Amino acid sequence: MRNAWLGPLLLILTFSATARGITPQQAQDRVGALRAELGHHDDLYYRKAEPEITDAVYDRLKRELADLEQAFPAAAAATSPVEAIGDDRTGNFPVFRHRESMLSLEKSYSEVELRSFYARLVRQLGRGDVTCVVEPKFDGVAISVTYERGRLIRAVTRGNGVGGDDVTANVLTIRALPREMRRIAPDGSPNPIPDVVELRGEIYLPLAEFARINREREAAGEVPYAHPRNVAAGTLKQLDPEEVAGRGLAIVLYGWGAWEPAAMQPESQQEFHRRVNRWGLPGMGNYRTVRTADEMWTAVQGFGRDRRKLAYPVDGAVVKLDAVAGQRELGASDHAPHWAMAYKFPPERTETRVKVISLQVGRTGVLTPVAELAPVKLGGATVSRASLHNRAEIARLDIRAGDQVYLEKAGEIIPAIVGVNVARRPTESRPFVFPMVCPVCQTALVGEADESAVRCPNDGCPAQVRRRLQHFASAACVNIAGLGPATIDALVTRGGLKGLPGLYRLRREDLAKMGLGPGNSSDRLLAAIERSKQAELWRFIYGLGIPRVGSVAAKELARRFDGLEALMAAGASPDSTGIASTDGLSPALASALATFFAEPQNRTVVSELIACGVRPGQVARRP
Ligand code: IVH
Repeated sequence: MRNAWLGPLLLILTFSATARGITPQQAQDRVGALRAELGHHDDLYYRKAEPEITDAVYDRLKRELADLEQAFPAAAAATSPVEAIGDDRTGNFPVFRHRESMLSLEKSYSEVELRSFYARLVRQLGRGDVTCVVEPKFDGVAISVTYERGRLIRAVTRGNGVGGDDVTANVLTIRALPREMRRIAPDGSPNPIPDVVELRGEIYLPLAEFARINREREAAGEVPYAHPRNVAAGTLKQLDPEEVAGRGLAIVLYGWGAWEPAAMQPESQQEFHRRVNRWGLPGMGNYRTVRTADEMWTAVQGFGRDRRKLAYPVDGAVVKLDAVAGQRELGASDHAPHWAMAYKFPPERTETRVKVISLQVGRTGVLTPVAELAPVKLGGATVSRASLHNRAEIARLDIRAGDQVYLEKAGEIIPAIVGVNVARRPTESRPFVFPMVCPVCQTALVGEADESAVRCPNDGCPAQVRRRLQHFASAACVNIAGLGPATIDALVTRGGLKGLPGLYRLRREDLAKMGLGPGNSSDRLLAAIERSKQAELWRFIYGLGIPRVGSVAAKELARRFDGLEALMAAGASPDSTGIASTDGLSPALASALATFFAEPQNRTVVSELIACGVRPGQVARRP
């Protein structure tokens, strides 16, 4: 969730308006407050992978601090976050020291800034034409991958730049990253293989994979992820490599640290890219070579224009001096090289009106508030709804029906409301009051005062039943053709269908009573329901909607258990760690099963499904 730029933005605007008139004491106070705030956001971003604010707001805060520290050097401290590299070490992995420290990039936000970077290169190198490469700026997690004599031996996150988390086991699950460099290039010539090379790059989540994960989450009644970067970061820091393997992370290599022997280093960034390709490693296919400031700006804009067509998340472009000799000449500060500059694309933003705030009851009973919007174009698509996530989010932004709101593509992918244009608020508007009872079944809602999630605890709530049936019957689960949302709605509201087993007890007369037959369509539906009894075991497991068990985990479980009875027996055993040790399941999966089967009604559902004649087909089991 990335939002709430408006509050800090207003602060910044107010601040810059008075910046020139502030006293050293005020500057000192503000510097302290900014450092604390940035520290908090660094923790959320780098270590928890759950940022609360957009990158643009973060960067503005950092700039404000940088400006203040420049204007009031006395207020600056040796450890200012302006100069520091965000530390991503979690404490959950051994820390490994990089051979050569891992730097970040200087960032720019305007054409003027970027052109002045190029002008500085020309000035400092004393030449009229300076060749640069322009690369997409991948939005993921920085990584250093070490190959020793052509063999991948280690992968480490940036950490504090000096040393980072050793996430080798997780990175080894990325199929597109070969463990061995190719010794012979595709043209038959031998490839030079360095004794040791630290290849630097980015681990990211391809957009198709991000969409797949979110489709699964939505089908499972869970709130979709807002940003592929956070999913990539969260996944990379998982303790169980099998879970990492289930998420299709990818990697791109765009630079290097140590290179031994040093004499073998490439002489240009372009040559580096060629070598990576010849080694058969995932390199930067999509870069431009430019020789003037105009060419550079055209290339940067080109990436901005095309970024929606790319298969990976891109949040900007990076301009790098091509010649390594020139790079050495220009050197680096302690956090970024002087020969490269990132340009961040401006977020796409627009304004629209909230028609109404509606509440969706998910499969597990969690209520998600959704803003129904006056349709508006944003980033090439028409947006008419935006999730408000939870009640804390509504309270924080004070979003009300009738409000004119700022809509932004959070993470450049999913539209999010990031603020309210309070000046255009209707005079009669009132704060949104979260209901005390479920809007569908009127059961009193539950949720701790300090928890943002509010649930309808009624397992039989028609909204939950509908969602559970939708998920179960979907093509991703047991795939009952003809059982779409409208039919499910009719079965629940008019036919009194209360759960999954009821599907298998439906008779032609029941459908007829609901006006769904008799006729071909109801016969076809009954045949499809009957056929689904033979669906593969993993589809049933996934269809049960066990929290945290998506299709990947369901397949894993189906390989380990003979059938639904065995799964339930293992899940109902009182000691979840017992399951983990006997069956080799990850503790997270074991505890998900244990929690689910601890509920008597879940055990009843599975027993009834079995009693109804559900006999899932088995997929190949692990020997
Ligand atoms: S070069 C010494 N090239 O963006 C230069 N970085 O916001 C090191 N990034 O820390 C980085 N795409 O994690 C480089 N084509 C690219 C990049 C890239 C994404 C990341 C990298 C860097 C961050 C700065």
